[in-house]
Amino acid sequence: MKKIIITIDGYSSCGKSTLAKQLAKKLNYTYIDSGAMYRAITLYFIQNRIDWMSHEAVTTALEDVHLDFVPNSLTGLSEMYLNNENVEHLIREMIVAEKVSEVAAVKEVRDLAVAQQKKMGARKGIVMDGRDIGTVVFPHAELKIFMTADITIRVERRFKELYEKNKNITLEEVKQNLELRDYIDANREISPLRKAEDAIILDNSHLNLDDQLQLVMQWVEDAI
Ligand code: C5P
Repeated sequence: MKKIIITIDGYSSCGKSTLAKQLAKKLNYTYIDSGAMYRAITLYFIQNRIDWMSHEAVTTALEDVHLDFVPNSLTGLSEMYLNNENVEHLIREMIVAEKVSEVAAVKEVRDLAVAQQKKMGARKGIVMDGRDIGTVVFPHAELKIFMTADITIRVERRFKELYEKNKNITLEEVKQNLELRDYIDANREISPLRKAEDAIILDNSHLNLDDQLQLVMQWVEDAI
């Protein structure tokens, strides 16, 4: 069967990665979490005290940043490696979430990430989620989805995820982080979060996962 590129963009915690993983499994495609790359670069900058407001410091630092996606042998899902170290869990910490949107707004950072993302799509058969995948990374993708959901539902979802790992986290903290990231992502100068003109809107505030997958699989069939 013909392989296509599927892009999923949208606000934070809309369930983009859940849908992307389901689709990749069902279609036997590769799932790429583009946000993990921005998170890994942010982690590197924090660990190495890089001032990301300085173009010079960023350019020099990025020469030492090597990002890879390596499939987990048990789950088959790609995990993020930063300079040969698995950082899949570290990059989900709040300390990274608090800074990632600032780092992701830096031109040199985006240039590096986008170039690598474009290469990953060369053979198609890929589902990639993020903020600018349908607009900038794969403007010719066969199927583009733009996800949204009510803010209260998104906050609850992300809270449940983070609370598993950190019982001190509060709903208010999670809400503030989501709203701030969405604001920075949608208002930055380079590649702001936008719905591509030819993207289909998927509001999953009140859809269960099975119904959502069924609906999107219909869109996939139409696109193939
Ligand atoms: O998808 P996730 O929430 O993990 O992404 C973390 C952050 O990375 C986003 O808030 C955004 O600032 C940035 N990002 C981006 N472009 C992408 C994917 C993520 O700017 N394609």
